[in-house]
Formats: sequence, C-alpha cells, structure tokens
Amino acid sequence: MKILIVGGGGREHALADALSRENTTIDLIATPGNPGIADLARIAPVATSDTIALVHLAQHERADLVIVGPEAPLAAGLVDMLQQERIPVFGPTAQAAKVESSKADTKAMMLTFGIPTALAETHRTVAGAREAVRLRFGAPVVIKASGLAAGKGVIVCTTVDEAYAAIDRILDDKAFGDAGNECLVESFMTGEELSLFAITDGHNVLPMLGAQDHKRLLDGDNGPNTGGMGAYTPVSMCTPKLVDDVTERIFLPTLHAMRRRGSPFTGLLYAGLMLTPEEGPKVVEFNCRFGDPETQTILPMLNSSLLEPMLAVARGARIHSTTPFAWRNGASVTTVVAADGYPDTPRAGDAIELPSFSDSIRVFHAGTTRDSDRVLRTSGGRVFAVTAIAESFADAQRASREAAARIEFDGAIYRRDIGWREAERQRDAAERDAAERDAAERDAAERDAAERNAGAS
Ligand code: GLY
Repeated sequence: MKILIVGGGGREHALADALSRENTTIDLIATPGNPGIADLARIAPVATSDTIALVHLAQHERADLVIVGPEAPLAAGLVDMLQQERIPVFGPTAQAAKVESSKADTKAMMLTFGIPTALAETHRTVAGAREAVRLRFGAPVVIKASGLAAGKGVIVCTTVDEAYAAIDRILDDKAFGDAGNECLVESFMTGEELSLFAITDGHNVLPMLGAQDHKRLLDGDNGPNTGGMGAYTPVSMCTPKLVDDVTERIFLPTLHAMRRRGSPFTGLLYAGLMLTPEEGPKVVEFNCRFGDPETQTILPMLNSSLLEPMLAVARGARIHSTTPFAWRNGASVTTVVAADGYPDTPRAGDAIELPSFSDSIRVFHAGTTRDSDRVLRTSGGRVFAVTAIAESFADAQRASREAAARIEFDGAIYRRDIGWREAERQRDAAERDAAERDAAERDAAERDAAERNAGAS
C-alpha cells in the first residue's frame, strides 16, 4: 500500500506516525514533508500550492491513497483533480471545502438548516458592518474575515470601537487579503470551546476523541492569537452523550445540508464548538481537515485502524459498517514549541538541540529544516508539537511540559499551562468528591452515635 501525504507540518507528521505504527509495511511518501516525517516516509519536494505537480506525483508513484493535510490545496481543488484521474483521495472537493473557506456561505447554510450556531450577518461594506454592530449586535461581538486567514481572521471585540477597528482592518485595509472581501458580524458566545473531529463518507460519521486547543500565545490564555499553542485529550466535558448530541444536532444535519446544496462532504469534518451553558453545543466554525495541534494529541491515543475508514471514504464506500474508533486509556497532552517572534514575525534559522525521548513522548516536527551540514534549524512559527501520553492527565501534562523544556533553540517559546481548564475541573471534582465523602462519613458517624445512644437508654 502506497500512501502520499500532502503537507509538511506537525499534523502531517502525526498522520504519518499513526499510519506507520498501524502498519509497518505501508510505503509512505510525503510532500513537502519535513525532517521528522523523513524518518517515516520518502520525501518528495513538491509544494502544496502546486496542485498540477501533486497530481503528477500521485500518478508517477501510483499512490493507492492520497491524504491532503492543509486547507489551501483542498480549497484549490486538489481533490477534484485527483478524483478526475481516479486516484483515491481522502479529503473534500473544493466546493465542499467551502465549509471552511467561506465562513459567510457556511453561516448562511447553518442558519437556513437550523444547525446550532451564533446569529450573524455578512457584510461587504464598512458602513453596513458598522451599522450592524451599532444597531443590532453591540459589544462584545465577534468580527470574522469570511475566507482562509491562517487562523488569524477571527477577532473578538469587547467594545464597539474595537469592532469598528476590526471591520476596517478586514474590509478596508485588507489585512487578510481577499479572505476579507466579506466580513461576518457575529454574536459573542460564552462557554468552553471544544474541537470534535469526525471522519465522514458524506452520510455517516465516525467521531474521534474531543480535544481542547489553546489559541493564545502565553500562559493564562494571554497574548496574541496563534494557530494553537497546545492541546489535550480526553476532555472530561466531552462525554459520550455530548458526542451523540453533536452527531445528531450538528454533524448529521450539516452533512444533510451539504448534500442538499450539491456539495457533499467527505473526509475529516472538524467542528469547532462552543459548549454554551444555556443551549448546549453550538458551531463556532467548521474546518475541512484535521486540526493542528489537536491531531498531534488525538492520533497517538488511537488503538484501532485509521487507514481502514480513510481508505473506505477515499474509495467512495460507506463507513457505517466499519467499527468505531477505539482509544487507549489515559491522557495525551501536546505542548507546542514556537520560534522567537511567533505569531507575527517568527525568526528562522536557529540551530536546534533535540534530545532523545522515551516512547511515551512523541516529538512532531512542524517548522524545522536540515541545512547542508545536516544541522536541524527552525524554519517556521510553530517548530515542534511535543505530545506526552500517560495514565493520568496530570502526568501527561507534566511530562509534556518537561519534554518541551528540554528542546533547545534561541528564543524558544512554549506554554507551561496546557490543559489548565482540565486540571481545574479535575481539582474541583476531587474537592467535591472529598467533601461528599466527608459528609457521608459524618452522617454515618452521627447515625452510629444515635444508634449507640438509643441502645444505651
Ligand atoms: N487548531 C485550530 C485549527 O486547526 O484550525
């Protein structure tokens, strides 16, 4: 089995890792890959933007399966081109990838089909968007560029003036290029966010473990927004009942809506959810591909086949007959190590000291390169995603943090608090349990004393 993975980040390294752990006889090719993936796959130096060359590569290699990692080649129609050549490919067509590449279109679909999400309006003019904020939304409010903006096009505004500034940046200054031809003015939702992925054949879903991302650069969720500084799984709020609820009220109606609109979605549907206290899970956004860094957290926990459902979907088969995913016990925590200057102007070229780690630590390369002297150097904003697997969440959290600290290069930045919400939840639950135990022991002691007194009198 020959599999071509398109992409060169931590997500694609995690996909390559999961597939090669599942089946050591798979012949993996990655393009453009990275020095970490190079330990698992042959590397072909084709850029993810060169869709024609990617099709030629898949044909030349006679790939049995192509897996497309990033959103840009999906939005550019790589899957459509491969399907025309009858090459099995895992990922949505360009039209279906609009679920991520056109937030305006997707919001309209969700509101039409009654899929739970925040109310929003789409505007093309500054005057129209400002009027929406002034007259109908107020603050806090969320302003979003409609198109692909590398995770940076969503601006949460606490005042009306901040919202005006965000609208100006998107529509007037074109801070996100053509992604900002339209902007959404969206009601602010409160609650905790959850990333839930599902592999889908367009009709049925196989949900994965829920994960929580950490978008801000600094501890305590401070600093600028990033592509994601870390993630963990499982999330104790993500119960089987919640997953069933999201499947029934969000995944399946979305797939139905996309079929009705003539753009059936197959591949990996990523629901970015807000777990609102009053009305349950609502969609913040959909992505048309595996999330980064959640994939680096989730896939090392997989105890069943990833290839089987991916191949079934790529071959146009239904997945309801395949078994649901099985997961190992314990927890997984991923800490991203980023370059100096990330997210605005990450510095490249710093030499990296990468120690060796035990099997319970996986170091996924995201922004690394080897120079002509074989020295490993930084080459991107997020440089590594360091995943620790352990029996308990607390152990995984500590091991991930300690492993990240051992990777050395000038200006390395990483968060020391990945999973702090889960740590708080577990502490609160332990305190509640202890209080209940104390109360039960007190009641029992009082009952005993009352019985003794009754016996004595
Ligand atoms: N973790 C956010 C994303 O993949 O878009």
